[in-house]
Amino acid sequence: MPTVLEALQNRSSKRAYLDKTVPKETITKILEAAAHTPSGANMQPWVSYAISNKEVLKNIGDAIIEKMNEGVEHDQFIQYYPVKWVNPYKKRRIVTGAGLYKLMEVDRKDNETRLQMWHDNFRWFGASNVIFVFTDKANIDGAQGALIDCGAYMQSILLAAQEFGIESCPQGSTTEFGKVVARVLDIPDNLALLYSVVLGYEDKDAKINTYQPTRVKLQESVTFID
Ligand SMILES: Cc1cc2nc3c(=O)[nH]c(=O)nc-3n(C[C@H](O)[C@H](O)[C@H](O)COP(=O)(O)O)c2cc1C
Repeated sequence: MPTVLEALQNRSSKRAYLDKTVPKETITKILEAAAHTPSGANMQPWVSYAISNKEVLKNIGDAIIEKMNEGVEHDQFIQYYPVKWVNPYKKRRIVTGAGLYKLMEVDRKDNETRLQMWHDNFRWFGASNVIFVFTDKANIDGAQGALIDCGAYMQSILLAAQEFGIESCPQGSTTEFGKVVARVLDIPDNLALLYSVVLGYEDKDAKINTYQPTRVKLQESVTFID
């Protein structure tokens, strides 16, 4: 069983999974643990849909890919990525993306393969379990606190999954098509999709799963005042 530090340091996003469903009991334990995530005023703003139904997941993926094929760039409740990328974040994004394509030997100009790799998000990288996390629109109407809480909830899911040998990939790609997800799932009107998390058994033979983007040195992100 990994320690918390080990789980933090060893986790990485996995983008290829075995065709094997995680037992509902395990998903329940992960979500029970994640429910202990702190939140402002204990409002627990996360509203999760834990989906293991292959047909439903296929329908969501089909609907998103269809939208993309229509040329729609996003159909979303919230804008996840910066509208204007500035350095050093812009550079980090480029380095991380380039590193993945280099590992997979995908040419910078090979748009078709790059698009296919993005579509893989909506095929859930072959996994059979996806958790979609929504919040009430009222929570994020002129306020951002619920986004902070739901971000912490995401990390709780990722770390708790480690204890069960379950790997994961957080997804902002679904955030961009949150309204499509909401329509397919027939979600109540008051909810907005924030993100999803793919959970499953890693395909250990998949080269893509060896990708571990580095982090900047602590001095670049932390100021110690002693
Ligand atoms: C909110 C959020 C959204 C993300 N969205 C995606 C996504 O849509 N597709 C994907 O392949 N990875 C996605 N990632 C994974 C990041 O690319 C990854 O966390 C980052 O490159 C660091 O790598 P690591 O998770 O392997 O340590 C997302 C991560 C976060 C936290």
